Amino acid sequence: MRRKLAAGNWKMNGVKASLAEVSALIAAHPNPKSEVLLCPPATLVAAMAEVAAGKIAVGGQDCHMKASGAHTGDIAAAMLRDCGASHVILGHSERRADHGETNAIVRAKAEAARAEGLVTVICVGETEAQRDAEETLEVVGKQLFDSTPDGATGANTVIAYEPVWAIGTGRTPTLAQIAEVHDFLRSELVARFGAEGAAVRLLYGGSVKPSNATEIFATSNVDGALVGGASLKAADFGAILSALDAA
Ligand code: PGA
Repeated sequence: MRRKLAAGNWKMNGVKASLAEVSALIAAHPNPKSEVLLCPPATLVAAMAEVAAGKIAVGGQDCHMKASGAHTGDIAAAMLRDCGASHVILGHSERRADHGETNAIVRAKAEAARAEGLVTVICVGETEAQRDAEETLEVVGKQLFDSTPDGATGANTVIAYEPVWAIGTGRTPTLAQIAEVHDFLRSELVARFGAEGAAVRLLYGGSVKPSNATEIFATSNVDGALVGGASLKAADFGAILSALDAA
């Protein structure tokens, strides 16, 4: 059985005062059935890990592919681990777009993260033009194959399907479209990784909010969500967590 996962991506939002939301979330959900992960900006990883005190997991939003060296502004996987992170998001569409991250780069980062014992949350997703051209499965299949290193297991890898056009837009695919992609990703994972591919959690991401969480979590092969905007407030993320616990 795959344990459900509610993951929050704070993106470039949050300062120390925002950690009150983490305390509030933990107070309101002291014993969730689902695993809970929050990925704040790098500046908050250490402080959030202290507030979380092991009750929820904390992750980075990116890491470098190298272990150390002359890479101004970058962060190595070992540094995230050293700050108390257990996970890292890799290949988010905003990083693919803003920083030119290719599948090969994402894969190298995932190898570096895994070598440090971080769970990799690898993101895939089509643009609106690709969906309109009916290339969705081809695109996400290639992203999945080329971004995920060999040896993926349920313990070291999570995949997030995030249609680029649904991120931060308030628009979501139909449930049938989500199911089609998640079922496809599952079959690809099983074809490549066997039983471990069946154990990898598949998250949906893109405009998940309290009002649509229940129906998304009832969708085939959806094991949780990667939540952006609605993860910033404990009340909203808590409501999404409750929906996942009830799924
Ligand atoms: P959103 O972002 O929930 O704000 O759409 C999701 C994500 O990019 O992870």
